[in-house]
Amino acid sequence: MSTPLTLHRHAAADARALLDEAVAVHQEIYAGQGVPYFSADRFRDRLAVALRQPEFELVAACDQDRITGYLYGFALPRWTRWWTPFAGVLPAELTRETGDRTVFIQEIMVRAPWRGRGIARRLHDEFLAARAEQRGLICVEPGNEPARSAYLRWGWRPLGSTTFDPAGPVFDCLVKTLAPGEQGCP
Ligand SMILES: CC(C)(COP(=O)(O)OP(=O)(O)OC[C@H]1O[C@@H](n2cnc3c(N)ncnc32)[C@H](O)[C@@H]1OP(=O)(O)O)[C@@H](O)C(=O)NCCC(=O)NCCS
Repeated sequence: MSTPLTLHRHAAADARALLDEAVAVHQEIYAGQGVPYFSADRFRDRLAVALRQPEFELVAACDQDRITGYLYGFALPRWTRWWTPFAGVLPAELTRETGDRTVFIQEIMVRAPWRGRGIARRLHDEFLAARAEQRGLICVEPGNEPARSAYLRWGWRPLGSTTFDPAGPVFDCLVKTLAPGEQGCP
């Protein structure tokens, strides 16, 4: 079902003004989990770092002035260490970055009262439609439904597992080809 919510696209300079609200939305969704990786402070740090990454963009779904959900991502730079855990596991060609090859979607979330209305799908499609990269990269916990199943239906393909914190959680990494000729999947 579609909704009359509006989508707004923000580059980093504008998105910085949304930092507190973005953290509040994240906290509303993740506070109950009690997982350090998902704490408000850790998330604020992650988002602050993300805001300094190349080609950062955040797409927010808004109900009047309130953010009901958002997605953000950025381009992996040529010198990224993102693929370090996959060294020797995946073919080198798959983990080679050029600076404009891969857009990493770091977060997508929709506040509970607004779920099931197609907002995540709209955020996803809107975000990717204007990206110039050849492939997308996203991470999801293996048991995170309905997110994982939705990504598979939306054309994402599993690449392997990784973690951003030795204490967990472990994420499945999924890739999606965005440009003809890109071999984003093994
Ligand atoms: C995952 C999340 C972003 C989905 O947001 P949403 O706006 O409800 O998603 P949508 O309404 O666009 O639905 C996405 C897909 O999941 C399906 N879906 C949504 N809710 C569902 C449910 N409760 N049960 C089964 N399927 C469901 C929809 O049918 C849709 O599939 P389709 O596009 O193939 O038809 C939202 O649940 C959320 O914020 N979860 C917490 C944060 C999170 O886990 N983020 C993802 C991290 S990788």
